[in-house]
Amino acid sequence: MQIALASDHGGFELKQELKVFLESLSIEVIDLGTFSPASVDYPDFGTLVAEKISRGDLEKGILICGTGIGMSIVANKFPKVRAAVANDLYSSRYSREHTDANILIIGGRIVGKELAKEIVKVWLETPFAGGRHKRRLEKIAALEREKFKDEE
Ligand code: RB5
Repeated sequence: MQIALASDHGGFELKQELKVFLESLSIEVIDLGTFSPASVDYPDFGTLVAEKISRGDLEKGILICGTGIGMSIVANKFPKVRAAVANDLYSSRYSREHTDANILIIGGRIVGKELAKEIVKVWLETPFAGGRHKRRLEKIAALEREKFKDEE
C-alpha cells in the first residue's frame, strides 16, 4: 500500500513521526513535504496530496496542519476527495465507515503522537460500510458533476 503524506510547519513534527510509523506497517510513504519546521502555507502542501487522490494516482493520503481545518478546506476543493479531520478515534472510525474518507487530516497542535498513531491505525483498518452511506456519497458525487457542468 502507498500513502501520500504532507504537512505544513504546524504538522511537520507529527508528519515525521507518522512517516516512521507508517513505514513500520510496511506502507510505502510518498512524502510530499514540508521538509523542515520553517513556516510555509498549508494550501501548497494540501494541494500536492489532494491532486494525487483526485486524479486517482493514489487511493489514500494523510495531511497534517496545526488544527486540521486549513488542510481540510483545501483538500475538499478537489473532485473525488473526501477529506476528514479526525482528531479523535471515533471520528477516524466513522470517517471511513460512513463517509469512505480518502484523506485523513490530523491537527498536529491538537493531537499527541501516540493518539495520532492510533487514529491512523483505526483509519487504515476500517472499511467503508456501503449501503445507505453509498447512496449519500453518490449524492455528493452528483453535486460535483453538476459543478463541472457549469465550468465547461
Ligand atoms: C499555521 O500557523 C496554521 O494556521 C495551520 O497549520 C493550520 O492550523 C490551519 O488550519
